[in-house]
Amino acid sequence: MDAVVTSEQVREVLGSVVDPERGQSVVDLGIVRSVDVADDGRVAVVLAVGAPGSPIRAQYEGVIRDRVGALHGVSSVTVGFDLPSAEEKEALGKRGQKGGLPEGALAGVKNVICVASGKGGVGKSTLTANLAAALAAEGKRAAALDADVWGYSIPRMLGVHGRPTVNADRKINPLEAAAGVKVMSIEFFLEAQDQAIVWRGPMLHKAIKQFLQDVEWGEVDFLVLDLPPGTGDVSMTLAQLIPSARMVIVTTPQPAAQKVAHRASELARRFDLEIAGVIENMSGFTTPSGERFTIFGEGGGQLLADELDVPLLAKIPLQESLRVGADEGRPLVLDDPHAPASQSIRQAARGLIAMAPIPAFEVPPAAPASSGRRSALPTAGAQKPPAESPDAAPPPEQGPKVTGTPLSLPLSR
Ligand SMILES: Nc1ncnc2c1ncn2[C@@H]1O[C@H](COP(=O)(O)OP(=O)(O)OP(=O)(O)O)[C@@H](O)[C@H]1O
Ligand SMILES: [Mg+2]
Repeated sequence: MDAVVTSEQVREVLGSVVDPERGQSVVDLGIVRSVDVADDGRVAVVLAVGAPGSPIRAQYEGVIRDRVGALHGVSSVTVGFDLPSAEEKEALGKRGQKGGLPEGALAGVKNVICVASGKGGVGKSTLTANLAAALAAEGKRAAALDADVWGYSIPRMLGVHGRPTVNADRKINPLEAAAGVKVMSIEFFLEAQDQAIVWRGPMLHKAIKQFLQDVEWGEVDFLVLDLPPGTGDVSMTLAQLIPSARMVIVTTPQPAAQKVAHRASELARRFDLEIAGVIENMSGFTTPSGERFTIFGEGGGQLLADELDVPLLAKIPLQESLRVGADEGRPLVLDDPHAPASQSIRQAARGLIAMAPIPAFEVPPAAPASSGRRSALPTAGAQKPPAESPDAAPPPEQGPKVTGTPLSLPLSR
């Protein structure tokens, strides 16, 4: 009988399969969960990488099938996938030398949740503000970071304005909103509210990095980030800085919006960020007499959640008081906890709490600042992702320019 291939031979071949992001083999990266070889030459490989449906998984599958299948004595190859654990992601970040944060940054932050969407105006900021407040109301230590540097709105929605102080370690103290929610936004460093920002690319990356590493976040259970619409630049930055961050995708209920939201999830997956779930916002309006109108259609949130194979965390109804509260800096979840929109947002918050908490949330250490994409998987037909989302928000055309190093703006002690 022909000698059957050994698992060592298979591992040797896996040593030639290089991760496109990190330029190291899957073996060196430690993402090979198992290699099984049956007596009849069937080989099963399991990798801990990506998320269900992510393009990176399909790429790996193709390469591994080809290369392992070419070994003498192999009758078939199956490639399975597991979600990487938080520790594995962190190790990946370290081994892969991603441009991360200094050791110890965000050391007290247990979970980072990024609120994203494919398009603007679907309620990301309203939900970020209210989710942070809802998490606080659920007894969690919560913080909100305005990662929408161009369209900052979290200070207004949480009703907190002012200029932060720095502590003895030269770290910036976040401001505090109702229910003890810690808040950080570019607005706190501008000379005037509503001043326009024109940063892009490297400036934006630097600003967000500083928000994460130079702010004294302290002990926080949930840091909720409000992302700008069309999250190309920012998603990439966050994926590099905090590989364990999870995304919540906000969509409105109509199927067209759900397709747009899907693009945001594709970005998340391309950057290997886990998607915690979908929130459908503006899902129906109920009149005081109890009549319900599905103004923006129906079912889009569930469709998207099914497609992404993630939970639908909540359906938030259209409610005027939610908008008024956001405009006036009084999050509805605190102002009127029994309002239907408040209850739905609390439900989403509980969903996030129920998800396996990330025990020791740490981030990879700093590496040479290079946001360049590395070589693609060495396989024919491997597709290199485009450098940036076509949806990335354009910078405002006018308004005073903010120049110089982000956050090196005047601070009071
Ligand atoms: N469920 C809701 N009921 C009523 N009004 C809502 C609801 N959700 C959001 N709004 C209102 O819709 C407007 C847009 O919401 P918001 O600014 O949160 O969206 P966004 O996705 O952050 O927008 P952008 O992409 O511009 O940052 C706001 O005035 C907000 O108060
Ligand atoms: Mg917004």
